[in-house]
Amino acid sequence: MRVLIAGELESFLIGTDVPPDIEVELLPPGAPVPEGDYVGLVPLLTRSVGAAEMDRLPALRVVANYAVGYDNIDVAEARVRRIAVANTPDILTRATGELTWTLILAVARRVHEGERMVRGGRWPGWHPTQLLGMGLEDKVLGILGAGRIGRDVARRAPAFGMRVAYWDRNTRPELETELDAERLPLDELLGVADVVSVHLPLTSGTERLIDAAALERMRSSAILVNTSRGGVVDEDALVRALQAGGLRGAGLDVYQREPAVHPGLVDRPDVVLLPHLGSATEEARTGMWRIAWENLLRGARQEPLLTPVR
Ligand code: DGY
Repeated sequence: MRVLIAGELESFLIGTDVPPDIEVELLPPGAPVPEGDYVGLVPLLTRSVGAAEMDRLPALRVVANYAVGYDNIDVAEARVRRIAVANTPDILTRATGELTWTLILAVARRVHEGERMVRGGRWPGWHPTQLLGMGLEDKVLGILGAGRIGRDVARRAPAFGMRVAYWDRNTRPELETELDAERLPLDELLGVADVVSVHLPLTSGTERLIDAAALERMRSSAILVNTSRGGVVDEDALVRALQAGGLRGAGLDVYQREPAVHPGLVDRPDVVLLPHLGSATEEARTGMWRIAWENLLRGARQEPLLTPVR
């Protein structure tokens, strides 16, 4: 059985036992999906897999995404065609949670402004009012989307003395019991949070959820952090809000049009920008490969997937 794997994953494939019933072909980055009798596909989150790609792969049985997010895949279309879809949940939760806190702390404590000052030879020496930031103790962390990653970020809040509020379509009793977290309507959460951290999948319901009106509701002393999908935040509106002093700052790992970054964000000292590093630990990326590979094999053999997208 022939399968297609994103070429960028070659280094993981090298240490993997390929069973005799599987024939792997690497898909060069940026190249369109070739036509053929491939039964499995492992794409990166940067590759769209929709009707056009599925038309070229009439024998396709499984799309095993190398990502937890699967907004790059037309899942409804796959369902119609009886193509199974899988993602890589759990394994990257801790890594993404850690990166979220990296951004929260970096923006709150103006880390990259300080770093630039030192490297740029512009540090005049210690001064009592130099680069004062926001302390986190007794502040409110507002979690948008209390799924695995949102909950992981929330669980680390007590270490910094923060209280937790969350907005989610479901009540999360474990967060309420463990952390005394309060579930709030979105507008209310935006109005009380000192840090708003976005952990929502990108869907038609969440696209540009953080728009001008949402940003307007946030406190001018607050920080916005996004490690989920860039499309959840309207970057034009964010730039305008920052320019108007409507926010203290923002920490972004994801963007609306990756790898492009809104030019209005690039030079702002109150914004920390990372290149979609949420799951970028050796542990998480290796684990994601193991899960995607297992899903690929199972899907190709028409066995139940390890982590199906339902
Ligand atoms: C995912 O898996 O969806 C992440 O965005 C990758 O870092």
